[in-house]
Amino acid sequence: MTQTILEPHILVSMTYVSRANPDMSDKELSEILRQAQQNNAANGITGMLVFNRHYFLQTVEGSRAQISQLLHSLLADERHHDLQLLETRELKYREWSKWSMNFVSPTTENAALYLKYSTTVDFNPYFLSAESIRGLMTELNH
Ligand SMILES: Cc1cc2nc3c(=O)[nH]c(=O)nc-3n(C[C@H](O)[C@H](O)[C@H](O)COP(=O)(O)O)c2cc1C
Repeated sequence: MTQTILEPHILVSMTYVSRANPDMSDKELSEILRQAQQNNAANGITGMLVFNRHYFLQTVEGSRAQISQLLHSLLADERHHDLQLLETRELKYREWSKWSMNFVSPTTENAALYLKYSTTVDFNPYFLSAESIRGLMTELNH
């Protein structure tokens, strides 16, 4: 309660890229998604997670306090590494309000989209700007 008074609920969005551990199984991936959806529904966090072979791309949106707390958890999470922040910004409204955590992985249908935003033959989100990542994530959702 005290926190609510001291810290107004400013709505923010955070996008990062990270490298999945090479030995990550489908089961582990499902567990990450299940955990994200369950926690986020309880914490008022919404967003989108993209898994593409070696990389995670994730946008999370919610109160600044909740997103900052989630960043601490993500940095300590040993299921991925090399986390780089791509963008944090204040929002007027949520862009992923329908999803506690939307999830997209590579398919034959969306393969061309990765190439559309790529600077390299192999998709590598560490080389992409925040603007490109935003475009990619929006299009992947359609
Ligand atoms: C790629 C990736 C994405 C994740 N996304 C979320 C998320 O959106 N929300 C969340 O609460 N935890 C997420 N997690 C899990 C957190 O790092 C952390 O394990 C979890 O929040 C701790 O939850 P607990 O306190 O209930 O054990 C993610 C982990 C990984 C590796």
